[in-house]
Amino acid sequence: MNKKNRVFIATSIDGFIADKNGEIDWLHTLPNPNNDDMGYMEFIRGCDAIVMGRTTFETVLSFNIPWPYQIPVFVLSRQLNNLPPNLTDKAHLVKGSLHDILKEIYQKGHNQLYIDGGRTIRSFLSEDLIDEITLTTIPILLGGGAPLFGDLPQELNFELLETRTYLNQVVQRHYQRRK
Ligand SMILES: NC(=O)c1ccc[n+]([C@@H]2O[C@H](COP(=O)([O-])OP(=O)(O)OC[C@H]3O[C@@H](n4cnc5c(N)ncnc54)[C@H](OP(=O)(O)O)[C@@H]3O)[C@@H](O)[C@H]2O)c1
Repeated sequence: MNKKNRVFIATSIDGFIADKNGEIDWLHTLPNPNNDDMGYMEFIRGCDAIVMGRTTFETVLSFNIPWPYQIPVFVLSRQLNNLPPNLTDKAHLVKGSLHDILKEIYQKGHNQLYIDGGRTIRSFLSEDLIDEITLTTIPILLGGGAPLFGDLPQELNFELLETRTYLNQVVQRHYQRRK
């Protein structure tokens, strides 16, 4: 099957994915009476594993909710040497170059990957390893925080596949890498 690395992420108007305190509660301040998931379940149904940065992994753990993923999560970290034992079989620590990490994940039979976390996404983009980006823009200016995008060694062209609007407030653009 064709390998794909996809991003599905929400940003502020000024392009941040977490605020100055590292918080993401601003993602959920718009009235959403029917709990519209803005395409998340549809997106994740098309993925067979998640590659997640250590900061995002720790954010998920801090929610103190049952583990929310049904597919394996590969956590990128140079600092961590192990993950909580209750997540054996659910989350796996990976290290090394992205090339080696992807090789390891493909060998385990996963090839439709959800790439999550700011630094993680930037490192994939630096090596031109992202095929699709679904970018959901929340109407707030945070004025600082964790950025989604940064410097790249080269320009990357994308094609707009679709635009959706949710709650009359949120614009979601789905891009595909054009090579
Ligand atoms: N708005 C949204 O939709 C959304 C989505 C996801 C996350 N978030 C939030 O955004 C923030 C993301 O934080 P972040 O930008 O620091 O990103 P991150 O990608 O979640 O985590 C960065 C960490 O991942 C590890 N890492 C990344 N690339 C690596 C590589 N190539 N090799 C080895 N390790 C690598 C490093 O951990 P070590 O330091 O351990 O080496 C690095 O410090 C969090 O606050 C999160 O809650 C928001």
